[in-house]
Amino acid sequence: MKIIAVYLSTRKGSVSEKIVDELTRGAEEAGAVVSRYKIGDSILGCRGCAACVKAGKCVIQDPLAPYWDDLQDADMVIVGAANFMGNVQGQAWSFMNRHFSMADTSRGRENRVIRFPAGKRIMGVFAQGQPDKGFYREVYRNYLRIFANYGFIPQEPMVVHATDLTEERLAGCRAEGRAWVEQMKESTEN
Ligand SMILES: Cc1cc2nc3c(=O)[nH]c(=O)nc-3n(C[C@H](O)[C@H](O)[C@H](O)COP(=O)(O)O)c2cc1C
Repeated sequence: MKIIAVYLSTRKGSVSEKIVDELTRGAEEAGAVVSRYKIGDSILGCRGCAACVKAGKCVIQDPLAPYWDDLQDADMVIVGAANFMGNVQGQAWSFMNRHFSMADTSRGRENRVIRFPAGKRIMGVFAQGQPDKGFYREVYRNYLRIFANYGFIPQEPMVVHATDLTEERLAGCRAEGRAWVEQMKESTEN
């Protein structure tokens, strides 16, 4: 079981980072291999240069560069991001936009082929200042739904707040990370 964790917060003491750390620690305890990309401060946006059409992957040389090969055999991608101005922060949009490079449209749009296997889960951990966790849920769901165009299976977003940084809640996240892996193992065995 392989999980890629992409951390998009730019803040020291980030809430989303701490929660993703605990989820992935739990996943490792259950035997998953985790690749971590702590890149919120350095990720570049898609330039629309179309060099990916020939190259077969995004050519931008930033800390996301190893991700495209890493993604091929991953079972799940977890994105940790902040809510800025009522939406997912810009760095998370840059991350999502860069997946454009993985659509091969050289045989026309109708014959579009995604350059990695379908069926990977995409999970989002979204930190917000708003204490009502339902308030922006549809915004987060919409963000994750866009990944479905690239063969990902969006999971229900996890909404978090600074008040979740208690020992008890963090231990709960570790348990949740372990449970994900157990559940993924079961679904691949059946
Ligand atoms: C520029 C900016 C805009 C923000 N806008 C919102 C907002 O519209 N709604 C909200 O609930 N929280 C908002 N916040 C609060 C952050 O979502 C909150 O601090 C969250 O914990 C940040 O995620 P992180 O801790 O993982 O960096 C904003 C914070 C910043 C810096």
